[in-house]
This record gives sequence, C-alpha cells and structure tokens, in this order.
Amino acid sequence: MATVLKAAPISQQIVDDLAKQCSLLKKDGCIPCLKVILIGEHAPSVIYTRNKKKFMESIGAECEIIKLAEDVSEENFLNTLKTQAKDKSVHGLFVQLPLPKHLSHIDVGQLVPPEKDVDGFHAQNLYKLMAGDKGENALLPCTPKGVMTMLKHAGVSLEGKSVAVIGRSLIVGKPLSLLMTNYNATVTMCHSKTSNLKQVTKSSDIIVAAIGRAKFINSEFLRSEGDQILIDVGINHDSDGILCGDIDQNDVENKCALITPVPGGVGKMTIVSLGQNLITAATNQLEK
Ligand code: GUN
Repeated sequence: MATVLKAAPISQQIVDDLAKQCSLLKKDGCIPCLKVILIGEHAPSVIYTRNKKKFMESIGAECEIIKLAEDVSEENFLNTLKTQAKDKSVHGLFVQLPLPKHLSHIDVGQLVPPEKDVDGFHAQNLYKLMAGDKGENALLPCTPKGVMTMLKHAGVSLEGKSVAVIGRSLIVGKPLSLLMTNYNATVTMCHSKTSNLKQVTKSSDIIVAAIGRAKFINSEFLRSEGDQILIDVGINHDSDGILCGDIDQNDVENKCALITPVPGGVGKMTIVSLGQNLITAATNQLEK
C-alpha cells in the first residue's frame, strides 16, 4: 500500500509560520494585502478565489476579490489592473484565469508588476527559473512551488532522479520541469503528442500528472516494482460528477510507493504557496 502524502500536516506548519511573519510585518506598519481580479462567474474560479481569500485571512493578511462582469470592456479591465498595480498598499496582485474569450489575447502575467506577481508568471520571475534559481526566496508559480514543498517534507530528494512531467502548461508543466531540473532531476516533459508515454512513465522515478484529464494515468503507466512516486496535479470530475485527479488513485494505490491524493493534495498546497508568495512580496516591498 502506498504512502498517501496529504497536504494538511504540511500546510499546518507553514500556516503557523506565515501567521507569525504576517504579524511581524504588521508591527512594521505593513499589512500584507492581496488583490484578486475575477472576471465573470466561471464556477471553479469562483470557488478557487474564495478559498484563496479565506486562506489569506487565516494568516492575518488582507484579501479583496475585485469582481468584474463577464462582458467587461478591455479598457475597463486594463484600467482596473493598472490602478491596483500602482497602489502601494497592494503587495500581491493577480487575475484569476481563464479569461473570457474577448480578453484571452491579453498576457496578464506581464501586466502585473514583477514585485507583486504572486502567480510567478511575469517574464522577470520566470527567467530566474530559466537561469537555474531554486526559487527559495523568489516568486515562483504556486503549483510547482507546492509540489516541491510536498516532496521536501516527504524527504524525497530530486538529485539524480528521473521525472516524467505530463503536461506543458505555463502554470504547471513548464515551470515545474525547470524547477526540478534546477534541483538536479532529469526531467522529460511529456504532452498529448508524446508517442511513447508509457515507456517514459515506466522508466521514471517520479511521475507528475498535470494534463487535466480525469483518471488518465492508471497502473498500465507504472512499472511492476511498485517504487514510483506519483504527484497528482489534476482537479477534475469523473463520469459520476465526483472530484478526482489525473491519476486513477484506486487503480494505482498498491502499485506505487507514494501518491498525493485529490482532494487534499497539491491543490491545497497551491494556495499555501500563494500565501508564501504574498508574504515574500510584502517583505521585499517593505525592505525597498
Ligand atoms: N487558474 C487556475 N490556476 C490558476 C493560477 O495558479 N493562477 C491564476 N491566476 N489563475 C489560475
């Protein structure tokens, strides 16, 4: 039976730390403040942003969700973003994705100033990953940062390990591949056109599933030794409408060494990482 690596015990320790750092910042006259721009009523985005706000408030930070109508004009949206970008009392800022179709050509990651970029999407922050930074004090994309925190707490070293990252998104697959490479893993970034996917996954010590397809990875993708580590980044619903990941957890539970659950795994750590990024951003801005 695999070890199930849950987020809760890991996050509790970090939450306590963040709350302490937040109260120290307040003593120095800085109330860490996050602004989230949410456009429309996309149901998962409404839930995610609500959870992010709840988390920030639980560590003593301020968080406001600025709601804009689904059909907001490009001009109004950009003006809202610029106002928050300029406001010195705002330390962290992001736009919840996906954007509605009429705004999807806008690269919002580049419009948030790099020092407030708690998503870690700005070119200046992503470049640090390209350059080999391990990101301990940087604004890293939240899901990759959360995955690394979980592996560290589980005592998993990446040095010399082979990793299959399945998915090449800008939010998860690409930055996570770079980050793991910076920790001396040998990473194969796979995607929907990878022709020998099972061969790659079977030969990998760690498999990260970030493809957005319910229960896509099953025991057929694993080798028989039962020694692999499986990281499930997916948040999907199965055919019965039940929340599930990209890994068929029931099918693989006796065939791997360690697995992150869904729910209660990487998703929760993503929000914790956002909290860490907010405190880093506020600390950096106070020191300036
Ligand atoms: N939508 C889903 N995940 C994310 C994320 O990490 N950041 C933003 N801004 N939007 C998202």
